[in-house]
Amino acid sequence: MATNTEYMLQAESVIKQYRQSESVITAVNRANIKIEKGEFVAIIGSSGSGKSTFLHICAGLDRANAGRIIVDDTEITKMGADQLGRFRGENMGFIYQRHNLIPQFTALENILLPTVMCNKPDMSYQESLRELVEHLGLSERLHHLPSELSGGQCQRVAIARALINNPQILFADEPTGNLDRTNADEVLKLLLKIRETRGQTLLMVTHDLAIAEMADRIFRMDNGILTLDRDYKGGNKRTIDSY
Ligand SMILES: Nc1ncnc2c1ncn2[C@@H]1O[C@H](COP(=O)(O)OP(=O)(O)OP(=O)(O)O)[C@@H](O)[C@H]1O
Ligand SMILES: [Mg+2]
Repeated sequence: MATNTEYMLQAESVIKQYRQSESVITAVNRANIKIEKGEFVAIIGSSGSGKSTFLHICAGLDRANAGRIIVDDTEITKMGADQLGRFRGENMGFIYQRHNLIPQFTALENILLPTVMCNKPDMSYQESLRELVEHLGLSERLHHLPSELSGGQCQRVAIARALINNPQILFADEPTGNLDRTNADEVLKLLLKIRETRGQTLLMVTHDLAIAEMADRIFRMDNGILTLDRDYKGGNKRTIDSY
């Protein structure tokens, strides 16, 4: 992928509306953001404020009614479905709040799924897989079905699936939202450690202010309107026991 810009992600005047019988809900209302390469940005905001809708649009999982999304220097809002699917597979990883693993597939098959859909000839999946399985502590569980794994293990499999293609940008929608505190912290530490090693850009939606506080910048979504809440860039801050 070409790298002519300092930004990994740019969203410009993104609007998303849902029509429900007579009324219209504006879930995202002219949202703008520019995220630098390697930056960790958190989005906070109350339930129903439009965080997931915006994240899905940025990741090309949903279409906006208006506005542009540019990843590195490629405008994904102009792409057709097939081209977008390939681009996503090669450049973007997504971690859902609920792991969204395929129940009939083993942990290993779930992790390798994105490799089937993308075409990165020079990429060594084996190496990526080895690193992820080791870091995420999954080696004993690779041949189990999601129903045979704990919530924390399922979420670690979902993280491995999002990272297997070594995407440049990672999107996470409350990645530890349905785990207890201890499990959530443990899974999050693993995610942040791998991201740091690989130098990936991260855009994460979270309810948890303690987690958001580790980001370089925090944005707040309020009724579809996105604003900068805090800027810690250059502060070198890292907590949750420094991973
Ligand atoms: N497919 C849909 N059809 C109609 N309305 C929708 C749809 N998806 C989301 N909405 C509405 O858009 C608004 C924003 O929803 P969204 O899921 O983005 O919120 P959120 O900030 O992620 O909330 P939460 O913190 O609870 O996950 C809400 O009012 C929601 O009801
Ligand atoms: Mg949400």
